[in-house]
Amino acid sequence: MNSHPNISSSEGRLGVLLPGMGAVATTTIAGVLLARKGLAKPIGSLTQMNTIRLGLRTDHRTPLIKDFIGLADLDQIVFGGWDPIPDNAYESVLKAGVLNSEHIDPIKEELIEIKPMKAAFDSDYVTRLDGPNKKTGANKRIIAEQIREDIRDFKDDNGCDRLVMVWCGSTEIFLRPGPTHDTMSSFEKAMENNDPSIAPSMLYAYAALMEGIPYANGAPNLSADFPAFEDYSKENSIPIGGKDFKTGQTLMKTILAPGFKARMLGIRGWFSTNILGNRDGAVLDDPASFKTKEESKLGVIDHILQPDLYPDLYGDIYHKVRINYYPPRGDDKEGWDNIDIVGWLGYPMQIKVDFLCKDSILAAPIVLDLALFLDLAARAELGGIQEWLSFYFKSPQCAPGLYPEHDLFIQHWKLKNTLRWLAGEEQISHLGREYYE
Ligand SMILES: NC(=O)c1ccc[n+]([C@@H]2O[C@H](COP(=O)([O-])OP(=O)(O)OC[C@H]3O[C@@H](n4cnc5c(N)ncnc54)[C@H](O)[C@@H]3O)[C@@H](O)[C@H]2O)c1
Repeated sequence: MNSHPNISSSEGRLGVLLPGMGAVATTTIAGVLLARKGLAKPIGSLTQMNTIRLGLRTDHRTPLIKDFIGLADLDQIVFGGWDPIPDNAYESVLKAGVLNSEHIDPIKEELIEIKPMKAAFDSDYVTRLDGPNKKTGANKRIIAEQIREDIRDFKDDNGCDRLVMVWCGSTEIFLRPGPTHDTMSSFEKAMENNDPSIAPSMLYAYAALMEGIPYANGAPNLSADFPAFEDYSKENSIPIGGKDFKTGQTLMKTILAPGFKARMLGIRGWFSTNILGNRDGAVLDDPASFKTKEESKLGVIDHILQPDLYPDLYGDIYHKVRINYYPPRGDDKEGWDNIDIVGWLGYPMQIKVDFLCKDSILAAPIVLDLALFLDLAARAELGGIQEWLSFYFKSPQCAPGLYPEHDLFIQHWKLKNTLRWLAGEEQISHLGREYYE
């Protein structure tokens, strides 16, 4: 095994750049501002609240993750972002309708100061939205260069020592990787030719990579999930990750499915439907954007259950996912699951799950954790796809030829063991000491 890397200091200002300043981004920003004033707790965030066991159970060493690995502190963070809708973070947080006034009023002035930069936006890729706060340029490469300039200006204006970028923009239409995504030079040529295979989210990812900034994608669109960017990020020690924040229904799926499999219970059908009424719901009402989301949600069960290894249990599952835009619910999503399971001798049983969740409340701690862990990865010079952060994604990117790990518990174990390795601590196998000494 490689020895653990040296990690440079976490001191200094950390700029967290968020393309897309809607519900998720502003709930994240507000939460960080409140938490650092001591006005609310960052619940759901591993970097802020989780401990890590080190050594033997009898050692009683369980520091907070943030103390033991030296993460940037919330006070060090400064936020920036882009959006075609010109609302500042205060206006956006009000429109999102996620937070109550008790969580908005104390930070109103700070939110007003966070104004979106002009977006690289094209309504061909997000058909249900438009806004006036957009960049213009003769071709996509010129637009990407403008994003790079924004990044450099933001860094200078805010005295940042380091930056990270997390895509919180809308889900773009479904695209498959093609020849334009193979190498950096084919990608650059395609930008110059305004090739339709290059979506705006890719321009942000490109700009981030060119500026040496870690990039994670919180939506299911391609963005940085193709060979040109994977190779470049690896060669240049820039951490990347994606795709699609694991919240709500998929979080439940990746908690439940490993449990059924651990007990060797069979599954015949899994029907999932959702109603939600936020801007994300409106975007996903477009079949092309929904297709991107559907692909991301459907892969989960197959990878966890391994039907090829267990044909009797999982060889014939009917899996269906639906998202319905229903404005009265706003950000308060309701996700129903009906699971037809099979037990001893093939007897059928049913499980019903009704999760009344708040989408952005579940997503915000993920954005924060990704920002801090990507910064850690960059300081440790870990390049390429950060599979140890799969814990946070519905559709985790993985190295070519490998299948993604979806099981939340394996992901959690891998995340913590990676942290132990980074800190030069022994990785925990859960074998008793008598077996390995
Ligand atoms: N909330 C969750 O639980 C959750 C979970 C997984 C993934 N996501 C994804 O996270 C993203 C954000 O979700 P949300 O609820 O905040 O949606 P939202 O609609 O409130 O915010 C998205 C924002 O992105 C902006 N945008 C679109 N294209 C852009 C571009 N090219 N450049 C800059 N800004 C752009 C939109 O104008 C909008 O303000 C969506 O793609 C969503 O699918 C959310």
